[in-house]
Amino acid sequence: MKITKAVIPAAGLGTRVLPATKTMPKEMFPIVDKPTIQYIVEEAVAAGITDILIITNRGKGIIEDHFDKSPELESLLEKSGKTEFLEQVRAISDLANITFIRQKEMKGLGHAVLKAKSFVGNEPFAVLYGDGVIVSKTPAIKQLIDCYGEYGEGVVGVKKVAAKDIHKYGSLKVENLHDNVFKCTDMKEKPQTPEEVLSLYSILDRCVLPAEIFEILERTVPGSGGEIQLTDAMREIAISKGMTAVEFEGKRYDIGNKFGILQAQIEVGLNHPETASLLKDYIKNLANSL
Ligand code: UTP
Repeated sequence: MKITKAVIPAAGLGTRVLPATKTMPKEMFPIVDKPTIQYIVEEAVAAGITDILIITNRGKGIIEDHFDKSPELESLLEKSGKTEFLEQVRAISDLANITFIRQKEMKGLGHAVLKAKSFVGNEPFAVLYGDGVIVSKTPAIKQLIDCYGEYGEGVVGVKKVAAKDIHKYGSLKVENLHDNVFKCTDMKEKPQTPEEVLSLYSILDRCVLPAEIFEILERTVPGSGGEIQLTDAMREIAISKGMTAVEFEGKRYDIGNKFGILQAQIEVGLNHPETASLLKDYIKNLANSL
């Protein structure tokens, strides 16, 4: 079945990057010249997604504005002959069919995804976390969608994380199928003891889920941090049917933490035609003084 729908949860409070997130959603933080969430929408579109639901909250209307038309700005750019900017601005509102729903209480990622139930219906769908940017040759979510085509099971995008950090992530029980593809038969959100660590493979920001996840989420009780965890619901599918895990190719930037933001700015800036050479010289000079 072709996957055409994606859900982008973007309602989290972003407490790890306060005070910036007091009024500005982290999903709108710019990486060089584009807001984080635009990179994520563009990734979904490049993977063949046509319909996107973004989960926001009452403080995040600016995300809706960003993907809307901007008649005043467009007419100004048109009058002043700034056609390149005009095309860029217009392209944003034409990217995909984007709709929005609000998560009224921030009860966790699982609770946010549950808001997508009627949008998704009975089809498998993609989930792209609103604060996780992945720069890759093949769109990361496309790598997962291709794997869904191969095995027909829910798919999680994974990478290995450092042993000292695994307690901040979810840990997966995996067995290699071939190359970068694994069978996943169990998972544990934020393992707190060495016994709870199933491996250093962790779900990072992307998955493809069957619609049965909603029925599971409806009865998933709050877990780690008192939140309804998507991992807890996916665990049920992993144990009963198995899921597939793909160690996706690409560099992932976590815009939900301070260092991730800095890494994204520097590395994306080093590849941006307008900033690459200036930034390279700047970093070299700066490094000499460190
Ligand atoms: P995070 O756990 O990284 O987001 O969720 P958070 O809750 O904003 O983080 P901190 O701990 O307060 O800093 C990953 C993605 O899920 C969304 C977030 O917006 C982010 O894009 N999310 C999280 C929701 O949509 N709703 C929630 O209740 C929680």
